Amino acid sequence: MILRFNIKYSSASLHIVQVILRQIGECIVRRAETADLIPIMEINLKTLPEHYSDYFYESLLAELPEAFLVAEIGGKLIGYIMCKTEHGFSNFKKLGFVKKGHVVSVAVLNEQRRKGIGRGLVEEVLIGVKSRKCEELHLEVRCSNTDAVRLYEEMGFIIIQRLNVYYRDGEDAYLMAIEFNN
Ligand SMILES: CC(C)(COP(=O)(O)OP(=O)(O)OC[C@H]1O[C@@H](n2cnc3c(N)ncnc32)[C@H](O)[C@@H]1OP(=O)(O)O)[C@@H](O)C(=O)NCCC(=O)NCCS
Repeated sequence: MILRFNIKYSSASLHIVQVILRQIGECIVRRAETADLIPIMEINLKTLPEHYSDYFYESLLAELPEAFLVAEIGGKLIGYIMCKTEHGFSNFKKLGFVKKGHVVSVAVLNEQRRKGIGRGLVEEVLIGVKSRKCEELHLEVRCSNTDAVRLYEEMGFIIIQRLNVYYRDGEDAYLMAIEFNN
């Protein structure tokens, strides 16, 4: 893990504001900040059909900053991932009740794909949700989204279930999950 401090100056004081979690070529992965939310929403609008209210982004950032991350190149955001935690039945243990991480949304701008940035975001989120004592991480993905399904499968996620008519447009989703062996 790369830990590097970027120091920003403000008129009032000098303060440390960013820790670089990972560097992928010229891209850095770091925790999101409130000021990132508008560019994150813009990436979401460009890349995915599922959109959310301002309040929802703010609440995820407040709830789980360890797993709300951005990818940045030269000061411009080019990707993000955001998650929440839930308590519920395990996707792996029969009748087990567990704390789980849930990837709500992840995206990388089209022109920056296939450089390992999506994988880097998901890998950092695995660390983030484990640090919050989650036992597994799950997500929903369109069955037609073969790029994303392949990425998750390569990282150890497995398809748990097909969710019929999960999306508003009627498409099915795969529920995919990975279990942590703490
Ligand atoms: C899914 C997404 C985040 C992946 O981001 P990315 O930065 O391109 O991913 P990576 O470069 O880390 O790719 C990791 C692996 O995913 C798979 N993958 C990603 N894009 C792929 C593509 N176009 N074709 C085939 N495999 C692909 C490959 O296995 C790849 O590994 P490899 O490059 O070593 O072969 C990106 O495609 C995206 O933003 N898509 C639109 C939004 C979306 O669908 N989000 C997921 C919703 S659940």
